[in-house]
Amino acid sequence: MNLFCLDGIPAIHTEPDEVPGMYMVLGRVADHTEELAPEERALIRDSNPSRQNGFATGRRLAKAALTHLGISLQPILRSERKPVWPEFVVGSISHTDHLAVSAVARAMHYQGIGVDVEVISAVDERVANRVLDEDERGWIDALQLPEWRTALFSAKEAIYKATNPITGEFLGFRDVTLRIDENAQSFTAYTLKDLKASSLLERARGYFHRIEGHWLTTFVIEA
Ligand SMILES: CC(C)(COP(=O)(O)OP(=O)(O)OC[C@H]1O[C@@H](n2cnc3c(N)ncnc32)[C@H](O)[C@@H]1OP(=O)(O)O)[C@@H](O)C(=O)NCCC(=O)NCCS
Repeated sequence: MNLFCLDGIPAIHTEPDEVPGMYMVLGRVADHTEELAPEERALIRDSNPSRQNGFATGRRLAKAALTHLGISLQPILRSERKPVWPEFVVGSISHTDHLAVSAVARAMHYQGIGVDVEVISAVDERVANRVLDEDERGWIDALQLPEWRTALFSAKEAIYKATNPITGEFLGFRDVTLRIDENAQSFTAYTLKDLKASSLLERARGYFHRIEGHWLTTFVIEA
C-alpha cells in the first residue's frame, strides 16, 4: 500500500504488495480553505468552520494523492455528497476533527475505493448494538477487544463509500457482515440478502491501520 503521511504524522508500516496502484495520503485537519478552487469554496460557503476545514483538508489530500497518478491540480466537485473524480479514476475521502485521508487509483485497477478514519473511542456499546450483528459483537466480546467496535463500524462506512458510487444503493449497517482476520488486520464482507453490492463484495478486501488514536480503514474492490 502506498501511504504517504504529511504534517509530521509518523510513517505507518504497510505491506508493499497490498493494494498496488492505490495512493493514499494522510494529513492533519487545518484551515486549508485558501487552497480551494473558487468552485470548491462555493460548495461549503454556508458550512461551519470545522466542516470547511475538513472539506478543504480532504480536497488538499485528494489532490496530493492524484499527483501520484500524474494528474495535476483540478477542482474536485461533488454530486449527491460524493466527490466527482477525474475520468477513469476512483477515490475516497474521510476526515475527523484531527485527521483526514484520501486515496485514489486508476479505474483499470480498482472499481471502487472507500476510506474511513475514526477516533478509536468513537463507537460505544450502544452504537455497536445498532450497527454490528450478533456474530460481530460476539467476536469483539470473545477477544475482549472493545476498541474493535469502532474498527468494524469504520469498515462498514468504508464499504459504503466504495460501493455506493457504483450501485447507487443505500446499504444499511446490518445489510453487511464482516469477517475479520485480526492477525492480518484485514477483512472481507458479504451481504445476507441479494443486493447490488453483493457481487462487488466478493472481489473486495479491507485493511485496518492504527494511527494517533484513530482507526484508518481502507476497502478496495478489484476491477
Ligand atoms: C456517507 C458516510 C459513509 C460518510 O461517513 P462519515 O463518517 O459521516 O464522514 P467521513 O468524514 O468519513 O466521510 C465524508 C466524506 O465521504 C464522502 N462521501 C459522502 N457521501 C458519499 C457516498 N455516497 N459515496 C462515497 N463517498 C461519499 C465525501 O467525500 C465526504 O467528504 P466531503 O464532503 O468533505 O467531500 C456516512 O455519512 C453515511 O451516510 N453512512 C450511512 C451508510 C453506511 O455507512 N452504511 C454502512 C453499510 S455497510
